[in-house]
Amino acid sequence: MAENTLTITDNRTGQMYTVPVENGTIRAMSLRQIKTGPDDFGLMTYDPAFMNTASCRSSITYIDGDKGILRYRGYPIEVLAERCTFLEVAYLLLFGELPNQGELKTWVYDITHHTMLHEATKKFMEGFRYDSHPMGMFVSTVAALSSVYPEARDIHDAENRMHQIVRLIGKVPSIAALSYRHNVGFPYVYPDNDLSYTENFMNMLWRMVEPKYVANPVLSRALDILFILHADHEQNCGTNAMRSVGSAQTDPYLSLASAASALAGPLHGGANEEVLKMLDEIGTKDNVPAFIKKVKDGHGKLMGFGHRIYKNYDPRAKIIKWSSEQVFEVTGRNPKLDIALELERIALEDDYFNKRKLYPNVDFYSGIMYQAMGFPPAMFTVLFAIARTVGWLAQWQELVNDPEQKIARPRQIYTGYDQREFIPMEKRAAASVPAR
Ligand code: ACO
Repeated sequence: MAENTLTITDNRTGQMYTVPVENGTIRAMSLRQIKTGPDDFGLMTYDPAFMNTASCRSSITYIDGDKGILRYRGYPIEVLAERCTFLEVAYLLLFGELPNQGELKTWVYDITHHTMLHEATKKFMEGFRYDSHPMGMFVSTVAALSSVYPEARDIHDAENRMHQIVRLIGKVPSIAALSYRHNVGFPYVYPDNDLSYTENFMNMLWRMVEPKYVANPVLSRALDILFILHADHEQNCGTNAMRSVGSAQTDPYLSLASAASALAGPLHGGANEEVLKMLDEIGTKDNVPAFIKKVKDGHGKLMGFGHRIYKNYDPRAKIIKWSSEQVFEVTGRNPKLDIALELERIALEDDYFNKRKLYPNVDFYSGIMYQAMGFPPAMFTVLFAIARTVGWLAQWQELVNDPEQKIARPRQIYTGYDQREFIPMEKRAAASVPAR
């Protein structure tokens, strides 16, 4: 018998089946042949939340959650964060190789020359309520770009696809900056093509009356590193949304809006904002033990802790902790850091967190650093979304080019009634459904 196979005995029928094992997986469709009789649909797997299901083949990002390893296209995240710029990493994620000098120059030029928003998009954003959450504005505006670029629907044309990718990477910082300016009531600042990706973003956020915005190099580099760390993370909730919606051949703007919507949730990219709220609630270092006790007693979660994949220290959290020291030298120390460090110290010594392998994730320290740099908490997830746009697009490209991918359509276990007799109105009970 071939070595790379799995033999299954169906104890309901006594029948044996041999199915191939490839890359440590069996194909779920191999189970369909396992039936109790001709009318049986065949065996399925039940996996709510995809705890043990691979939904695609991907050559973009590798994670070993037990060892705390993260690599983009084979390169360790630590090396990329130290040696590359964000746009260099974006090129790597999208094209599979690091760019040479000429390729990088052209790439940076192309992105830089797609940062302007159509005036119609600017007007669209002006229509939001003054206090709209920037993540809601970001999601809606990215979706609205679909109406500005209707040709994006032709997803099978590689050149057209790349045009939309460049547009999206160029425009997401402009959308993010405009959502911030809208909240604070300042006029929109147009992009400055002399500046780097992050410097220009800072320019669009914070330029006031000065003729030329000059970014602090430590802060713009720190932001660049944060963007590198957030650029991709294989099949997380947002990326899964991008691939799932994209599998219907939906255009990249609408698909990306759905990915960003998933990211907005407090269990996903919205956790960085929640960490700040939690640190505010704790207030001082002395209150940390009582807070930890509350979490262990089942009242709330330690936000910024735990991960579906990492059962070890998130390597991104380590880099952020290191990078934040340089930021604090410029901005002054964020007093919340002391509470966070104490939370981490106590949690890492505690059996509850050890047994469940709960460690700080990327969101634990990023918010403290963003706040020190001058971002309000509501902007934190938007910053995440700017960086992750690259990963979503790389994953979308891979999906579109994968001949094995079809429209995503899970199965279900039906738990409802069998066919029932219709009840006419006059015979229905007074209250057939319990009060809600
Ligand atoms: N605080 C306290 N307990 C926790 C936490 C936490 N942050 N995270 C998980 N647990 C506990 C659960 O209650 C559960 O305990 P039990 O076995 O006694 O029931 C156990 O650890 C396993 O947790 P699950 O929720 O089953 O793990 P899952 O993989 O489904 O969830 C998640 C992962 C959503 C990230 C979770 O750890 C969490 O909610 N963390 C806080 C939110 C957060 O920081 N999210 C950002 C993640 S990174 C990102 O998306 C960018």
